[in-house]
Amino acid sequence: MHIVTLDSNTDFDGWRKAARALATNDVKPAEVTWRVRGATADLFDDQAETTLPEVPEGTFSVPASFVELAQSAILHRDPNRFGLLYRLLWRLRANHDLMTIATDPDVAQVNAIARAARRDEHKMHAFVRFREIGRERETRYVAWFEPEHHIVELAAPFFARRFADMPWSILTPDLCAHWDGSRVSFTPGVSKAEAPSEDRLEEVWRRYYASIFNPARLKVKAMEKEMPKRYWHNLPEASLIKPLIETAAQRASAMIAEPGTEAHKAYKAHKAQKRVEETVMARKPKAQTKAHETKAHASKPHETDAAALETLREEAASCRACPLWKNATQTVFGEGPAHAPIMLVGEQPGDKEDLAGQPFVGPAGQMLDRALDEAGIDRTKVYVTNAVKHFKFVPRGKIRLHQKPTTPEIKACRQWYERELAAIRPALVVALGATAAQSVFGKITPVNKSRGHVVDLPDGVKAMVTVHPSYLLRLPDADAKAREYQRFVEDLQIAAHAMKRSVRAA
Ligand code: URA
Repeated sequence: MHIVTLDSNTDFDGWRKAARALATNDVKPAEVTWRVRGATADLFDDQAETTLPEVPEGTFSVPASFVELAQSAILHRDPNRFGLLYRLLWRLRANHDLMTIATDPDVAQVNAIARAARRDEHKMHAFVRFREIGRERETRYVAWFEPEHHIVELAAPFFARRFADMPWSILTPDLCAHWDGSRVSFTPGVSKAEAPSEDRLEEVWRRYYASIFNPARLKVKAMEKEMPKRYWHNLPEASLIKPLIETAAQRASAMIAEPGTEAHKAYKAHKAQKRVEETVMARKPKAQTKAHETKAHASKPHETDAAALETLREEAASCRACPLWKNATQTVFGEGPAHAPIMLVGEQPGDKEDLAGQPFVGPAGQMLDRALDEAGIDRTKVYVTNAVKHFKFVPRGKIRLHQKPTTPEIKACRQWYERELAAIRPALVVALGATAAQSVFGKITPVNKSRGHVVDLPDGVKAMVTVHPSYLLRLPDADAKAREYQRFVEDLQIAAHAMKRSVRAA
């Protein structure tokens, strides 16, 4: 039996060095016991450590995908992870393509634990809440967090980038991370009793959370999935969740009962209907179009689609296809029913969406909600997503200024849009603004020239472009704003019409 002691729970280099030496010396996986220095005493405490001759780097080649996966998997709390990784490495010698066999039990397990560790990193990004400690020149921001896995070292650089100009400490039972404005350092873990209880920032979080909570879009299960209960006890806003849920139905009814814009609506409906006839109907000459529409929604296994979307959401949480993930809090994936007849595509999450982890919950989202409502579209029945799923910004003091995504960033993110589209198969995709249009149509598409026209894309998808709601928010002139808002609602009415037809066809 060989005993290998690693320096810490996250000692990937130590594991790699030992694994390379063991495999080169033909030591079988079953003959190795892995342990971590200082971890609880075990059976092998008295036994001698294995010392194998060092094997230089490069003697042994494994696919880069394995190394990347192993670096995440090693952060999982599963005590058997070192052995599992060594077993995979051992087997890779005989089958270099092993990592591509997703059904292999070892490959599946290592993928699952790597995914869980990365998900935990994202939860840490989203759920650390700093408390302000001390006064004026002494001020420090301290947070208590209980990670599920050993992800503190991995997650800390994110907080250094995000909160570069404030000294902070994140205390956890495993390890504490500290930022002094120039470097991150680590000290051993502490108990919760040592965490600060002063709470000057809590009220700010509570107000923020209450402001983004939309009672009309409450989905308790989805919310608990995004913000698992295990994090609630450390979140200042948690005390609001229960009362907000309890009063949601009542508040949503009140919102619906609010005086509407009825007189206005009749005129708009008439005008939009005319445009609908000129666009949708005129573009539907072939019987074959009808067959396609029916196919899209007829015998769809919704449960499977919902599960496929869930898997996608989980995968996207650790997307690193472009550098935007580095500064963003989390991936903001699409939201809505898996069988939605309409898919709305925005540009990218904004500041509020980045923090909430949901698309269109900030000011542009409120504008969108209002316009959808006037167009007769129930937002809870459509799927809402973005072309780019991470918030791109530049910090300006305390503000994070939105930056337009570049073409490479749009292209890198398109895989998620394509996969959402394949899972949902909506009757119509509505691109909101130029970035969304570029992703949906696969090329730069001028919004003003194309807006309001429903066109057929390859694969039978129908798509339409209109303006982005934040374009309306930016218009300085009230008349132009009202006029443009009106046109936006009319574009959405075209979508509403397409939605009704698709429901009828199904
Ligand atoms: N703008 C977008 O394009 N998407 C959002 O989710 C929010 C603002």
